[in-house]
Amino acid sequence: MSGSVSYRFSQRLSHVPASFLGELFRVSSQPDVISFAGGLPDANRFDVEGIRSASEEVFAQEGKTALQYSTTDGYLPLRTYIASRYRSRLGLNADPEDIQIVNGSQQCLDLVAKILVDPGDHVLIERPGYLGAIEAFSYYEPVFDPVQALDGLIGPDPDSVRGLVTDNSPVLWYGIPNSQNPSGMTWSPGIRREIADILDGTDTLLYEDDAFGELFFDGRPREPVKKSLPHQTIMTGSFSKTISPGLRCGWIWAPHPVIEEFNRAKQAADLHSNLLSQMILTRYLETTDIDRRIWETARVYEERCHLMEEIIDDRFPAGTHRTSPEGGMFLMVTLPSGIDSMDVFRQGVSNGVAVMPGSPFYIDRGGGNTIRLNFSTVDLNLITEGMERLSQVIKSLK
Ligand SMILES: Cc1ncc(COP(=O)(O)O)c(C=O)c1O
Repeated sequence: MSGSVSYRFSQRLSHVPASFLGELFRVSSQPDVISFAGGLPDANRFDVEGIRSASEEVFAQEGKTALQYSTTDGYLPLRTYIASRYRSRLGLNADPEDIQIVNGSQQCLDLVAKILVDPGDHVLIERPGYLGAIEAFSYYEPVFDPVQALDGLIGPDPDSVRGLVTDNSPVLWYGIPNSQNPSGMTWSPGIRREIADILDGTDTLLYEDDAFGELFFDGRPREPVKKSLPHQTIMTGSFSKTISPGLRCGWIWAPHPVIEEFNRAKQAADLHSNLLSQMILTRYLETTDIDRRIWETARVYEERCHLMEEIIDDRFPAGTHRTSPEGGMFLMVTLPSGIDSMDVFRQGVSNGVAVMPGSPFYIDRGGGNTIRLNFSTVDLNLITEGMERLSQVIKSLK
């Protein structure tokens, strides 16, 4: 038997960007490295005891159901909970029939692209944009059109969106209006209305990824674009940042024809999401003051974010710019021109601090002097120490 097999991978793999994340995780998990590179919620905020007792109740009361196969659309009490929270928090009229549970909202990126995007279709994405979306969409071979942020970072530039929608008739416009990953930017109410007006009446769908909408530091919900554009907006959400990513529970809420196709694709992909997780989560949500817990988490993140901002303003070289997040888990720094963020990454790791270079977030290969900093996982003392190390590295490269 010959050991030389020539593995024939599909052509579409050539469209997927080389992932830098493996190297990133490897170096940033070294024990002596303070990492601002990741994107995890703070594990100290997980309510281990609460989830444990919810699990015990599910096993005691409905163990056989929880361990059985289930429907593709997801556990109805959980979908009903999500719909009623849309109503109570945001005044949105959501029907549980148009909501489906997924294995983390990341799964929506794959399945939405699978049902909507043909090779060569145009997809609009923010510049910088969420890397997980760039990677997931790439398998379906779209042409990405990057949308520049407005000066002042109050959202995407409406003129750029208008031009791209008119000229390229994109099938999808993927954006993160609340505390975007990677920039931390939040779209202003005016920009939200303008984006809805531009799309209204076209056949471009908006994909409104709301992974961070519950995590505003001031606790105030921002009105989704979907409110002004209900029949053209696919909205996704997640329990990952508020309760636990390990449960892998997210959802999609979309116009009925989209949900029907999504359901078929989801069934083909994995039959249904983990029912046990869905039932535990539902039980947990029914028995917990979730608003208080989320508020406390946002307080912790706010304090960390503000400390990082102060240190950037005090210690980083002149010519540095940063975003001012209103929530979420990330902020983005633009370093003085000439500083290469890959050098910051490499030198940083040698000096005990890891950052995420910005360029993978730029579909047009820009952002070479930007870095993304995560403020959710590292406590205040380590932020002070890590940011001091980082400022030294940046000064040494200037
Ligand atoms: C903007 C955004 N969307 C979606 C996801 C996927 O999250 P999950 O699959 O855990 O819901 C993430 C994860 O970090 C994210 O940052």
